[in-house]
Amino acid sequence: MEISVPKHIAIIMDGNGRWAAERGLDRVQGHTEGVSAVLRTVDACLKKGVKYLTLYTFSTENWKRSEEEVSALMMLLGEALTKYLPDFMEKGIKLSTVGDVQALPEQVCRKLEHLRETTKDNDQIVFNLALNYGGRDELVRSCRRMMDAGVKSDELTEEVFESYLDSAGMPDPELLIRTSGEMRISNFLLWQISYSEFVCMPEFWPDFGPELLDKALEDFNGRQRRFGGR
Ligand code: IPE
Ligand code: IPE
Ligand code: MG
Repeated sequence: MEISVPKHIAIIMDGNGRWAAERGLDRVQGHTEGVSAVLRTVDACLKKGVKYLTLYTFSTENWKRSEEEVSALMMLLGEALTKYLPDFMEKGIKLSTVGDVQALPEQVCRKLEHLRETTKDNDQIVFNLALNYGGRDELVRSCRRMMDAGVKSDELTEEVFESYLDSAGMPDPELLIRTSGEMRISNFLLWQISYSEFVCMPEFWPDFGPELLDKALEDFNGRQRRFGGR
């Protein structure tokens, strides 16, 4: 059977802390392993011809975690961005972000800006990081932009609304994956996932890679998408 590959896959990368706890390790070590899983996943998506990969990396609610964990996450992010830039250029990976990136530590913010600019002409895959991202926050910020632009109520359509989202110009994800067995959205992409197929897997994020991606794709291929029709 021919496997159809979604153009856009979104992933809620969950379970780094539990992966570490199971091994008697610190949560941060779970996050470090999580970075390796990210790289395996981008490579696997590139090979399959996926055009957009959106990863839930840091939520607007994740600031509630301990200061040590938050700063370790920001450090890991900053380090990874520097380390993997050559890889992005070589493989044609274009970095993009959704979320209130301006509110991240200045150093991370600057690095993101630099990477977005440097990779802007890459065309193999859009590697979209959801950073300081909350679905409700995105909707509120989009409404503010619309109001500031003077959009009149009778001009507002779904298409106009979409063009003010952080994700403007990207197709909606056909497939949404969540690891670690949780079955909730946790404020991710509230607008964009209205008809995404949800695949939930029990494995923790640091164990994710090409095999689990194949499993999710198999599951996705067995779904009958109806979009409200018959
Ligand atoms: C996902 O793993 C990574 C982030 C949210 C940044 P968690 O850190 O949520 O791991 P668990 O859910 O506590 O196991
Ligand atoms: C969702 O995971 C956020 C990210 C993966 C970045 P959380 O671990 O923060 O979600 P909850 O708290 O289990 O809902
Ligand atoms: Mg979690």
